[in-house]
Amino acid sequence: MDAWIDKVALVTGASAGIGQEITRLLIEADVKVVGLARGIDKMREFQKILNNNNNSNKKDRFYPIKCDLTNENDILDAFKWIKNNLQGVDILINNAAVLVSGMIIDGKTEDFRRTMEMNVIAPAICIREAVRSMRERGVKGHIININSIFGHEAVHVPSVYSNLYAPSKFALTAMSQQVQAELKDIESGIRLTNLSPGLTRTDMTTKLCSMFPYVEAKDIAQGVIYALSVPSQVLVRQLSITHQAE
Ligand SMILES: NC(=O)c1ccc[n+]([C@@H]2O[C@H](COP(=O)([O-])OP(=O)(O)OC[C@H]3O[C@@H](n4cnc5c(N)ncnc54)[C@H](OP(=O)(O)O)[C@@H]3O)[C@@H](O)[C@H]2O)c1
Repeated sequence: MDAWIDKVALVTGASAGIGQEITRLLIEADVKVVGLARGIDKMREFQKILNNNNNSNKKDRFYPIKCDLTNENDILDAFKWIKNNLQGVDILINNAAVLVSGMIIDGKTEDFRRTMEMNVIAPAICIREAVRSMRERGVKGHIININSIFGHEAVHVPSVYSNLYAPSKFALTAMSQQVQAELKDIESGIRLTNLSPGLTRTDMTTKLCSMFPYVEAKDIAQGVIYALSVPSQVLVRQLSITHQAE
């Protein structure tokens, strides 16, 4: 991770679950992290914990920004703040997503829209803005899309329905593959990894984790560190991390 010391990572959904663990491990690796979420109080609490637990050179490396990712202006304001205060984004972790319960066949249109806004449109806006920031500064940055095994197979779990979650994650898989090709075409040296967790214990999955084998958020965050740690000529295109019994 030496190449990323003092570089700037933007982590969406840094107020909980996998996003918090990714933030923690990036800060342990001496990366500066800007966290986006609506829950600014939760992120400020997390900031206190990070500052109390870390020694002096790892303190004050977390910058929480209140942001509703379904509001484009909030996202653009966050990128502006980063440009003005930290030069730009070197690593983007597209982590935040929503999972609405229920069947599609009797689902609400507003839930369909919210899922696609959060899980597809917001990551696309963040990718566009991060790539712009990297190219302006000639940075060979890294984008990691936190996807899901549901982005590769719409597994049917009896009595568990997740609305447009799997379709939105399939779209993210296609987005990852397309952006990998675009980044190669423009010879930017910017890399994109699609990371697909299986069931992971977080607020999103409390009920499911009482029924099925799961991994911890830290296991996924370690996958992020691995993808960032390989030599610059190597690309971890796809990483799937699940419980061995899943
Ligand atoms: N947990 C699993 O089993 C599992 C499995 C496969 C893939 N994944 C993927 O892993 C990623 C993280 O999941 P998780 O389980 O850690 O989720 P989580 O615990 O529910 O956390 C979701 C994060 O997204 C943020 N968020 C939600 N809506 C937002 C909005 N409108 N604007 C800004 N931020 C918003 C939340 O912050 P606020 O509420 O404070 O805004 C929170 O920080 C997701 O992409 C998920 O699809 C999870």
